[in-house]
Amino acid sequence: MNSTDGLIERAKSVLATNDAGSWTKPSPALYPHQWNWDSAFIALGIAHYDLERAKTEIRSLLRGQWRNGMIPHIIYNPAAISYFPDPHRWQISLSPDSPRQVLTSGISQPPMLTITAHALALRDDDSDFVRDIYPALLAFHRWFHHERDPLGEGLVSIIHPWESGMDNSPRWLGIFSLIQLTTRPKYQREDNTLVPPYERPSNDDYDRFVFLMDLARDLNYNQKEIFANSPFVVQDVMVNSILYAADESLCKLARLIGEPTEEIENWMEEMYEAFQRKLWDENDALYYDYDVRGNRSIKENTLAAIMPLYAGFADKKQAQRIIENHLMNPAEYSPDLGRTRYLVASVSKSNRFYDPRNYWLGPVWINMNWFMMRALTRYGYSQLARQIRSDTLELVENAGFHEYFDPHTGTGYGTDTFSWSAALLIDILKNEN
Ligand code: GLC
Repeated sequence: MNSTDGLIERAKSVLATNDAGSWTKPSPALYPHQWNWDSAFIALGIAHYDLERAKTEIRSLLRGQWRNGMIPHIIYNPAAISYFPDPHRWQISLSPDSPRQVLTSGISQPPMLTITAHALALRDDDSDFVRDIYPALLAFHRWFHHERDPLGEGLVSIIHPWESGMDNSPRWLGIFSLIQLTTRPKYQREDNTLVPPYERPSNDDYDRFVFLMDLARDLNYNQKEIFANSPFVVQDVMVNSILYAADESLCKLARLIGEPTEEIENWMEEMYEAFQRKLWDENDALYYDYDVRGNRSIKENTLAAIMPLYAGFADKKQAQRIIENHLMNPAEYSPDLGRTRYLVASVSKSNRFYDPRNYWLGPVWINMNWFMMRALTRYGYSQLARQIRSDTLELVENAGFHEYFDPHTGTGYGTDTFSWSAALLIDILKNEN
């Protein structure tokens, strides 16, 4: 067995250990439920050796769909105990849209599942699979484009940092500093007892996560009320980039089964225009989130600001500036002598919040490397994409299937049997030998 085969076997065994039957836990102790975009990444990897099981992973996500189309970020596993927040905290039954038989969270996550569904559909011609899931996917996208874009601007908003997939990103910390809590919400975290606290979000950040989830619950998950009352309403560049790429996948799925595509094409056209007009910063050559409540751009240099390359928003000149001024800049993302060795830190080293050990404040994440490889290949920077690929393999080979990694030392942090690290590693190895 060569080292590639060995790594694939190790990755498969992580996924087998975390397999809960029809879906996969992100990790056994730290994340014992089903997460939305995790399942999408996981299915991409499983598809290389068990296509039917990968389809089941996607179908199982649809169990949690709300009547308004939202697919929640967590579907709870009734057999798991001791996870915060638990379903009682969310109390989704307060919303007339919530499902009755399944316990879920009350917010969503980036719609990676449509991108994965399309990748699976290309592997065989199982049009029954596409026909089965298509209405649910279309309803999910409609929910994003309508409920999360009440002003019809062409850009969707998130109402909680957990919806971004990057919980404690520097992008959210400015808004957090404006949320003055008169009383701290009462709750008991579990994550920082399983993993050292310096690798996790701070207690102050966590208070704000809980405050925002309680607020959405107290407004019965009524999107209009949340838009009117929450201090956190953000047009997130990464969520919009993934949604745009997912819209493209949805169009392709529609064509496979002869469904109309005009509605989807209109969303894409509107988003493309709004994205360039509102989120591109010509001075900095980065795309920035927009704080809808505070009416301002959130000027934080993180990998999210580069994600529009994955969706293809940038023209050649914009892409060149983003890649050459930022990704290839040793003061920001590229290795520099004596400091960082590994691509790609999730936050620029020049950012004042940069912390190479702490969650979404700087460590390398395998899903972000996967996105960046695709983004760079799209714009013809294949050498840099190959460097990210070999760094990714080296990190996992040396440290194991950790959740995130130190860009300086390669040390693995968070849980050490993280499903999407395993699944995306399989995808990376199988696709680009
Ligand atoms: C954390 C991550 C999020 C992920 C979840 C489960 O909350 O920030 O992106 O989906 O864990 O792995």
